[in-house]
Amino acid sequence: MDLGIKGDLALVVGASDGIGLATAKLLAAEGAAVTIASRDAAALAARAAEFGAEAMPCDATDAAATAALVAGWEAKHPRLDILVMAVGGSQRSSFEALTDADWQRNWEFNILATVRLVRDLLPALRRGHSPRVVLFGAASARMPYAEQIVSNVHKAGHVALVKTLSAELIGEGIRVNAVQPGRTVTRLWTQRAAKLAAEEGSTPEAVLARFAQDIPLGRFASAEEVADVAGFLCSPRSAYVVGQSIAVDGGITRGLL
Ligand SMILES: NC(=O)c1ccc[n+]([C@@H]2O[C@H](COP(=O)([O-])OP(=O)(O)OC[C@H]3O[C@@H](n4cnc5c(N)ncnc54)[C@H](OP(=O)(O)O)[C@@H]3O)[C@@H](O)[C@H]2O)c1
Repeated sequence: MDLGIKGDLALVVGASDGIGLATAKLLAAEGAAVTIASRDAAALAARAAEFGAEAMPCDATDAAATAALVAGWEAKHPRLDILVMAVGGSQRSSFEALTDADWQRNWEFNILATVRLVRDLLPALRRGHSPRVVLFGAASARMPYAEQIVSNVHKAGHVALVKTLSAELIGEGIRVNAVQPGRTVTRLWTQRAAKLAAEEGSTPEAVLARFAQDIPLGRFASAEEVADVAGFLCSPRSAYVVGQSIAVDGGITRGLL
């Protein structure tokens, strides 16, 4: 399927690795001019060079760094057609062990960084051609996971963010949607599996196999499988999809809604 995004100007934040990188590569392969952002400038530049993207280092949880990213964008680009925000994650912990600082840090990571990025880029999006915003929530918004209370809460709030923001912006022609990944093989899971394996005296492979057991499809997703749906939402092919958070989860969320 031709996504119809040739020549679009795209910014993908959280894109030196994982699902953000896979999405950025897909957009570039479809002919968009892609800029990627993340914290580690050297890793980012190396990744960008691999597929002809522009690199703009940024810690999206830092308001000043986000303002600098936006200023850099405005200085170089006439408009923004596609914005993808892939920064987020979880902190595995019991409720009792989480401090106020943990809650605050995760709030900034999962919600405030996205709020600030979209808000600061609204002027560039308003000049965009059929502007599209794609955010990443999580399947945990539909089926909270044990020991992930902080991201369960924030990713549930993310659904409300997407719906409300979308309703507010669609009148200006800015289309906002989200993808909710299920368990996906990225650094997030390889690091978690290594930590759990060390605690349990097993192997990362055994941990991943155990976590795959309750996925109806029987395996983790690849970053590319999740990016395929994000790419569709970034495209005019999804023009009538507005304010949705679409699960790409191998069937793990068993609820009706
Ligand atoms: N993987 C899963 O199983 C899964 C499941 C549910 C939801 N999700 C969601 O999907 C999204 C992508 O997850 P992922 O697994 O692809 O993550 P990942 O593999 O951990 O990749 C994260 C990317 O974001 C960058 N990043 C991290 N913190 C950043 C910050 N403060 N500012 C800017 N860039 C930052 C990282 O580079 P630097 O470290 O250099 O900054 C890296 O490029 C997240 O929102 C996550 O919550 C993932």
